[in-house]
Amino acid sequence: CGILGIVGKTQVTSRLIDGLKRLEYRGYDSSGVALLDTGELKRVRAEGKIAKLEKALESNMVEGQTGIAHTRWATHGIPSEINAHPHIAGRVSIVHNGIIENYAELRDSLEHNPKIESETDTEIVAHLMNGYLEQGLEPTQAFSQSLKQLRGAYALGLIIDGHSDHLFCARAGSPLAIGIGEGEMFIGSDAIALEQLSKKLVYLEEGDWAILTPDSYVIFDENDKKVERPIVYLENNIIQATKGNYRHFMLKEIFEQPITIGQTLATFMDEFGKPANGFEDIDFSKYKRLFIVACGTAYYAGAVAKYWFEQVAGIPVEIDIASEFRYRQPILDKDCLFVAISQSGETADTLAALRYAKAHNVGTLALVNVTTSTMAREADIFLPINAGPEIGVASTKAFTSQLAALACFALAMSEHTSFKDKETIMRFTKALTELPDTVSETLRLDAQIEKLCLGLSSAKSVFYLGRDMNFPIALEAALKLKEISYIHAEGYAAGELKHGPIALIEPGTPVIVLAAQDPLFDKTVSNLREVSARGAKVYLITDKAGAKIASEMAEEVIILPECESFVSPLIVTIAIQLMAYHTAVHLGTDVDQPRNLAKSVTVE
Ligand code: G6P
Repeated sequence: CGILGIVGKTQVTSRLIDGLKRLEYRGYDSSGVALLDTGELKRVRAEGKIAKLEKALESNMVEGQTGIAHTRWATHGIPSEINAHPHIAGRVSIVHNGIIENYAELRDSLEHNPKIESETDTEIVAHLMNGYLEQGLEPTQAFSQSLKQLRGAYALGLIIDGHSDHLFCARAGSPLAIGIGEGEMFIGSDAIALEQLSKKLVYLEEGDWAILTPDSYVIFDENDKKVERPIVYLENNIIQATKGNYRHFMLKEIFEQPITIGQTLATFMDEFGKPANGFEDIDFSKYKRLFIVACGTAYYAGAVAKYWFEQVAGIPVEIDIASEFRYRQPILDKDCLFVAISQSGETADTLAALRYAKAHNVGTLALVNVTTSTMAREADIFLPINAGPEIGVASTKAFTSQLAALACFALAMSEHTSFKDKETIMRFTKALTELPDTVSETLRLDAQIEKLCLGLSSAKSVFYLGRDMNFPIALEAALKLKEISYIHAEGYAAGELKHGPIALIEPGTPVIVLAAQDPLFDKTVSNLREVSARGAKVYLITDKAGAKIASEMAEEVIILPECESFVSPLIVTIAIQLMAYHTAVHLGTDVDQPRNLAKSVTVE
C-alpha cells in the first residue's frame, strides 16, 4: 500500500493524486483521499485503480489545504470502496500500511460500541483515536496514547476535523518519510512518492511518530521523547517513469536490459574490468557460509547465485524464502554473512529477516535497487544494483541486474578463496563484460518468440524444465508467466518431473525446456523425450549445438546466442521474459499491473 499526505496553505488534491499515481506500484485494489477543507473533513474513495478515483473526483471534487491519500493492496477485507482508505471515525481520518495484529482485541475494547463500517484493521485505529479525543484528550496526547495500544506493523497518516493545520504520522515496521517543503510539509511511504514534492527528506525510525504543520515538524521516539533525525537530500530524478514508444513498461524494461546490465557491471567492475568495486567493506576471510534471503523473483536470483558462489568461490550457501527464514530458527554464527536481495528494499519479510540476522550478530549485506530504501539504510553493507526505476510489477531488468551483481560478487569472492583457477575466472569475467552485447543479440529473437506465444496463450497449464542454473530460471519463467498471463505454470528441475508432475502431462501440454549451454544437456534431452513420448508440445530453448541434436523432438526451437555457461542464465532469462510478455499481450491482460499483485509488499 502507499501513503501520501500534505499539510499546507494551498489546495492539495491534484498533487495528492499525482503522488498516488507514483505509488500505484505498491497496490491498486482501491484508493482514496481525505481532506480538511477549512477544518471540515471530506473524503472520496473508489475501488480499482487510481484512474477510478480521478473519475469519482470529477463528479465529487473535494479540496483542502491538508489531506491524506492512499492506494491499497488488500490485506484485511476484500478490495472495495468500503474497505478503501482513508477510514473515518468521528473527527479522525486515517491511512495505514501494514497490519495491526491486535485489531480484534482493540475492537472489542472500544467503548460506546461504535458502528464499524469496514472489515479493516485500520478503521479500528481511527475509532481508538477518536475515542481518546471524545474523552477530552488533546490530539497529540490522543495520538501518542493510541500508538501505545497498537501491535504489529504500521505506517500511519492521520488528520483531525477542526485541526486543518496538523498532520500526524507514525512508523513501526512499515517505512515512512517526511518531506520538508516551504510553507508545507509532506509524508510519504517512500522517496518515489515524495520526490516531486520535496528533495529534503527525513526518514522516521522504528517507533517514531511526528506532528507536522505547514511550517514545522516535530519527531518523537517511542518513549515520546523529542528527537532529531538526519535530513537526506535526494538526487534528481529517482524515477524517469515514461514508457517512451513502448506499449508497456514491462516491454521497455525488457529492452532496456543491455543498458541496465551494463550499468550494474560498471558499478562493480574497476577500471581493469575486474569485479572489485563495492566489495571493499566485505571481510571475505571472515565468512565461511552465506545465507541468501529474498522473496519472489529476487529469491530466484539468489537461487542462481547459490550455484555461482559454490561452484566459483567454493563457499557454501543456504538460500531461504524470507517469510520462512526467521521462523525456522536457522543456525547462525559469526562466520555467516547474511545477504538480502530486494528490488524495492522494502519487502516486509525480507526486511524482517535482515533485522533477525542483525539481532543475532550476523553481518548483513543488502543487494537492492532502490537506494533510498529501508534495507539500503539498515544493512551493514549496501550494494546498489543500479538498474534504474522498475515500474512493471513483474520484475525483469531488476532480476538481470541482481544476477549481474551477484555474478560479480561471486567472482570477487573467488579471488579470496582461490577456489577456481585464474584462467577460468578471467573467462567468466570476460563473458560478464560481454553480456550487454549478448543480451542485445538475444532481444533480436523477439519476433520469433512473439509468434510462438500464440500457441501458448490457449494453454491451461505450462511446464518449464531445466537443470543446474536453468532450474531456478525455470522457476522464474513459470512465475513470470503466472504473474502476467494468469496461466497456470510450474517450473521443475528436469530430473524431478518423473516423480509426480509428469502425471499432469496430457497430449498438447506445452513443456518449455531450458537447455542452453547446459552442462547436463544429454540428461535434459532424456527428460525432453519422456514428456514428448506422452504427447507434450515441446518448446526447446537452447544453443546451436543443442538445436542440432534435439530439434526434431521439439515443436519449436529457439536458438540463443553463444555464451559461457556461467552467464547463460541471464540470456535464457531474456527469452522467458519475452515469452511471458507476449503471451499476456495475446490474452489482453493488464501487463504492467496484473491483478492481485503489488510491486512492493510491505506486509508479512
Ligand atoms: C512482489 C513482486 C515481485 C517481487 C517480490 C519481491 O511480490 O510482485 O515481483 O519479486 O515482491 O520484491 P522485492 O522488492 O523485495 O525484490
